[in-house]
Amino acid sequence: MALLELRHVDISYGNRVTVKDCDLTLEEGEICSIVGESGSGKTTVIRAVLGLIAGGGRVTAGEILYEGRSLLDLSPREWRALRGHDISMIFQDSGAMMNQTRRIGSCFVEYIRTHENVSKKEAWEKGEDMLARMRLPDPDRIMRSYPFQLSGGQRQRVGIAMGMTYQPKLLLADEPTSALDVTTQAQIVRQMMELRDEYGTAIIIVTHDIGVASYMADRVVVMKDGVIEDQGTREHVLYETDNPYTRKLMEAVPSVGGKRYV
Ligand SMILES: Nc1ncnc2c1ncn2[C@@H]1O[C@H](COP(=O)(O)OP(=O)(O)O)[C@@H](O)[C@H]1O
Ligand SMILES: [Mg+2]
Repeated sequence: MALLELRHVDISYGNRVTVKDCDLTLEEGEICSIVGESGSGKTTVIRAVLGLIAGGGRVTAGEILYEGRSLLDLSPREWRALRGHDISMIFQDSGAMMNQTRRIGSCFVEYIRTHENVSKKEAWEKGEDMLARMRLPDPDRIMRSYPFQLSGGQRQRVGIAMGMTYQPKLLLADEPTSALDVTTQAQIVRQMMELRDEYGTAIIIVTHDIGVASYMADRVVVMKDGVIEDQGTREHVLYETDNPYTRKLMEAVPSVGGKRYV
């Protein structure tokens, strides 16, 4: 059984069907990239998987199955148990998602205590341990910092650390490196790939950068105007596809074409 399966999924905002007939399968431990121009529906698709589409968007046709179970019928209580535990999400700028008036440690402790019945002290220690595992130096200082006191790269590592606390089977990442400089981008990309190797985490990474996508991913999904235009193995997308749109995207990235991107 696949870890995640989208079958003929339509997603609408109001009366407008934005994503049409989306089919996507992800196996355990697989890394899949969704690429495509801005507005093509990438964020909409991964938010649908997490049951968190913005602006009243909803799935209006098809099925989303996680380990064979429909995610579309979950109760709010079932969602709370799954989200942030089995399925986690990291955002373009995890720092911007955090409450700017609260220290990292306070948010981390609260997050852990929504999933586990532990004391604040235990939660704090667990948070620190996760930061250390994500190779953030001086985790105690980070726990005591406000988001704005950290660099973009540090904040993104904090976001990944939080997302990985419960060793999710599925990590959804929406443009996780777009706000970072190239060097930090490369570090974060490597770190995400290590998560798969160490924890067996399956990852869907949304990126407008087909270079990052084809470097990281086992499978690449190309979206255009709310439709999956092309998909296949990284080799398919890099070398084999006849799809003119995919080829156009590839040609726009001079660093791709057999060479390592990072
Ligand atoms: N909250 C919203 N309300 C209405 N339409 C939206 C909303 N969010 C996104 N859309 C529309 O859905 C389409 C896909 O957007 P999105 O999934 O954000 O694309 P991407 O992540 O690929 O840039 C766009 O046409 C966008 O205008
Ligand atoms: Mg987006």
